[in-house]
Amino acid sequence: MKRLVSYIVIGVGVLLLLSGLKDTDAIGVKKQLSYCDIQVKKTLGKIKGSGLLPRCIDTNATDWYKTDIYDWTSGFWPGILWYDYENTKDEKVKEEAIRYTEALIPLLKPDHQGDHDLGFQFYCSFGNAYRLTGNEKYKQILLKGADKLSGFYNPKVGTMLSWPGMVAEMNWPHNTIMDNMMNLELLFWAAKNGGNKKYYDMAVSHAKVTMENQFRPDGSCYHVAIYDTITGRFLKGVTNQGYDDNSMWARGQAWAIYGYTLVYRETGSKKYLRFVEKVTDLYLKRLPEDFIPYWDFDDPAIPNAPKDASSAAIVASGLLELVQLEDNKQKAKQYKEAAINMLYSLSSDKYQSRDKNPSFLLHSTGNLPGGYEIDASINYADYYYIEALTRYKKMENKFN
Ligand code: GLY
Repeated sequence: MKRLVSYIVIGVGVLLLLSGLKDTDAIGVKKQLSYCDIQVKKTLGKIKGSGLLPRCIDTNATDWYKTDIYDWTSGFWPGILWYDYENTKDEKVKEEAIRYTEALIPLLKPDHQGDHDLGFQFYCSFGNAYRLTGNEKYKQILLKGADKLSGFYNPKVGTMLSWPGMVAEMNWPHNTIMDNMMNLELLFWAAKNGGNKKYYDMAVSHAKVTMENQFRPDGSCYHVAIYDTITGRFLKGVTNQGYDDNSMWARGQAWAIYGYTLVYRETGSKKYLRFVEKVTDLYLKRLPEDFIPYWDFDDPAIPNAPKDASSAAIVASGLLELVQLEDNKQKAKQYKEAAINMLYSLSSDKYQSRDKNPSFLLHSTGNLPGGYEIDASINYADYYYIEALTRYKKMENKFN
């Protein structure tokens, strides 16, 4: 199947080259973005008046499980609306995007402690809002969000505390999870947009300390790194959402690929480029035929284990950025082809939700050990899917 998809992509490319076009829109990006718009409108109808946000849809359910603004995923729905608006220019969608984005302002209140997820919450919502509107109010909110996020930085360790709640609950004195790499983006953004310049140093330190401690020699990562708060020393790597402490949890690896790509973009330091290549190459090498990983690469139940489409969407989006930064043409070609294959699979009837439910995608796994969101539709799979499609459309803008 993997080989078949590659042949189709190459075959269509050759045909288009022969017919005088430079490249191929193998995934039908405009059609997929129109599909997203149809699903967005279904969801808007379903959640209307609830005051809540869509989070996930279990395998046999047809409607969203909804959540409030304090849920870690609350930035994804407004972010989806902003991408949909960017692609459709539909003013009604923009109104909804504004409404759901501004609903998150209470996250700034001092009585809400939050955690590293403030990065996802603010950057996916207000980050896209500011990018598309230039509204100064959104910039100020992002700067306040970054300031609050920076409060989790521990200078002794050199990384951010991801889960304050787990310090006592799990006896994880200073814990840093791989997902936290994503939230460096808000710090990098703030440092160059009028925020404290120290945010840049914090983000770089976090990336460096994480690279040195939270990966195994083969380039796979631990989900959680535990550090000693007194000495700052790395104590051990464990898992929270993966199969076991030493397994390769698919989404952790996906966060690392996307996260180190943005660290390379922001620092220009080749050591991060070489590092993200290593982390990516391992992920690609271990993928199943259809380019969509099982939820954990080391689950012994494979091939009877659930998939995680969210990881595929995150990696596709990350790779579409990485290919534009690459200094190695061979790698850029390989990563672009891989990203297209991921989007091609995600856009098939096997992975798109279509009439089954109002989300974009089926078959994501949020927390298998926790017993929830197994083989489900999840809002962050949809967010990174529409982000990846939008990136692809911009790269291939001749298809607009
Ligand atoms: N950041 C939580 C997760 O990836 O499930």
